[in-house]
Amino acid sequence: MTAPDTASAASAGPRQILVTSALPYANGQIHLGHLVEYIQTDIWVRALRMHGHEVYYVGADDTHGTPVMLSAEKEGVAPRALIERVWREHKQDFDNFLVSFDNYYSTDSDENRVLCESIFLALKDAGLIDAREIEQAYDPVKEMFLPDRFIKGECPKCGAKDQYGDSCEVCGSTYQPTDLVNPYSAISGATPVRRASTHYFFRLSDPRCENFLRGWVGGLAQPEATNKMREWLGEAGDAKLADWDISRDAPYFGFEIPGAPGKYFYVWLDAPVGYYASFKHLAAQRGLDFDAWVRPGATAEQYHFIGKDILYFHTLFWPAMLEFSGHRTPTNVFAHGFLTVDGAKMSKSRGTFITARSFVETGLNPEWLRYYFAAKLNATMEDIDLNFGDFQARVNSDIVGKYVNIASRAAGFLSKRFEGRVQDSAMHHPLLGTLRAALPQIAAYYEAREYGRAVRQTMELADAVNAYVDAAKPWDQAKDDANAVALHETVSVSLEAFRLLSIALKPVMPALAAKVEAFLDVAPFVWSDGDVPLSSARPINAYKHLMTRVDPKQIEALVAANRATLLPTGNAPAQAATTATVTATAEPQSAVISIDDFAKVDLRVARIVDCKTVEGSNKLLQLTLDVGEETTRNVFSGIQSAYRPEDLVGKLTVMVANLAPRKMKFGLSEGMVLAASASDEKAEPGLYILEPHPGAQPGMRVK
Ligand code: MSP
Ligand code: ZN
Repeated sequence: MTAPDTASAASAGPRQILVTSALPYANGQIHLGHLVEYIQTDIWVRALRMHGHEVYYVGADDTHGTPVMLSAEKEGVAPRALIERVWREHKQDFDNFLVSFDNYYSTDSDENRVLCESIFLALKDAGLIDAREIEQAYDPVKEMFLPDRFIKGECPKCGAKDQYGDSCEVCGSTYQPTDLVNPYSAISGATPVRRASTHYFFRLSDPRCENFLRGWVGGLAQPEATNKMREWLGEAGDAKLADWDISRDAPYFGFEIPGAPGKYFYVWLDAPVGYYASFKHLAAQRGLDFDAWVRPGATAEQYHFIGKDILYFHTLFWPAMLEFSGHRTPTNVFAHGFLTVDGAKMSKSRGTFITARSFVETGLNPEWLRYYFAAKLNATMEDIDLNFGDFQARVNSDIVGKYVNIASRAAGFLSKRFEGRVQDSAMHHPLLGTLRAALPQIAAYYEAREYGRAVRQTMELADAVNAYVDAAKPWDQAKDDANAVALHETVSVSLEAFRLLSIALKPVMPALAAKVEAFLDVAPFVWSDGDVPLSSARPINAYKHLMTRVDPKQIEALVAANRATLLPTGNAPAQAATTATVTATAEPQSAVISIDDFAKVDLRVARIVDCKTVEGSNKLLQLTLDVGEETTRNVFSGIQSAYRPEDLVGKLTVMVANLAPRKMKFGLSEGMVLAASASDEKAEPGLYILEPHPGAQPGMRVK
């Protein structure tokens, strides 16, 4: 039994290090929240590679489970076709953001199947697997057992309709799926029945597991994680760990359990094993001894970067699975917080649920985001906020204004006046000594996952370099040939300082660093290059533009591109399909009216023949509606937060046709279109205009 130890940073010689990020689900797109994690991990991996350590960074798509199976069914494709397509999308996104996986794989692989089977059989041999009959909700129409998230019904406390099986979004109470009143299957709508079936359990309640985990938790790097673990573990001798249900019944997209036809490994069993499967595939390609890395007592280190939401799986289940199946256990698990955008949860309707793809397609530079996240990240599980104003200011003032500027000011003089050769004696300038001395500290900050500090210290050094240049005034020195030696010194010190700053920033902005390496004509930077100054023997190349500024228009375009449209996205279908009804119940019902009262409202099908934004309003869209009359109607509607005008043109909707016209600041509004929303329109899940089924014609009455 080995307790995890924090990285022995001081130990001499190259270390062997296996690093993972959590495996993203294969039924959704990569978004900026995910990227917090992949960028955080990648920066760490790059910083450690720069020491010359043997580092392998592996990942994979998390492909199995009911949601993927149902998504594929909905799209009318086989699950394997869906995960294949999503894998390519994810891989492209990671490449775009310079996430340097040594292998990006899939949990639906042969290596993973073999590893899962052998881990399961080893746990069984250890007496840690139980087969037990349990009763569960079963959908008699769809003919499958229902995971909790697919059972809905009325809240047992407040009676709100369409609530999930674990908690009520209206009153906030939590309960068991069996407590729901009038439950129904979110897949078929059928009333679930109770049905018995045999499940396999990993016996975490066994004292061996408890004892092992109690020892293991002491070595976790983050005090918050240790505290959580202690809470889950309970008092010694009074363990609270429940056995873990690791099987699911057919139909299920996953691996069948050996010797148990019709039973499949639960996705959360095969997902972490996917880390090893990905590494095993890599090991075969690179000729590494996989077993030596994963057997107990292995000298290689193993780290998992994850979000705080999946701590439980990585600090309880995964280490226990490894320990009792004859494997080494993780050296450490590093959890980060969640991303918010402008202080709020990412929101589709506000356009802040931003996909990795849209960021690149809108023309924003991925290294801007890497820099921004780095500036905000530390070693804790605190959430981090993406504020667009701050994003723009930091990128423009730090990267372009402070850092790139140093090179652009010095390079021209050096190339034109000194054949691109530095003054060798200038390499001993005290300012450069300060920078060189800071590099090991900055490298240590990266390893400690204190990226904010690494970046801050680097920018303070950049400030010092700029102050030096401002005091020396090379543009004045250049006016008089008598000052040539002084000018040569100034620009040589500037460029060497720029080189040192580039080493410090390389883990964060590797593509920019590569451009700098080409410009200075030097080998790829490693940490020890701090002590290898530029030399007159090796002239620099002509300076080429290194990085542009963020244009606020790009950010506007990014948000607009991510605003919710009417089209279903195919991501998280269960959530998307239900949110509207969930919030509808949040609004208290109005007083009862008679049919005659209702008949006073003249509702008509309308075609949106044109739609524009309204100059001077950030709420309204101006709609031109055809309701089967001789002339069209002009209607202003407060739906700008939810729709792009071009997405509405040509669509049918429903309007109140006999509403008294209203004079507004922007013109006369001749009616009202119908839209569904929560009482607070800005809250999730936003706002949705009504659309009749195909075949309805403009002018038809709705009654
Ligand atoms: N498939 C599981 C992980 C299995 S690991 C053996 C999963 N997938 S996920 O796609 O939902 O999330 C992948 C990672 O991204 C998780 O670590 C999760 O915490 C992280 N994030 C997802 N949304 C995030 C934010 N909004 N902010 C920060 N991290 C986020 O969980
Ligand atoms: Zn309730």
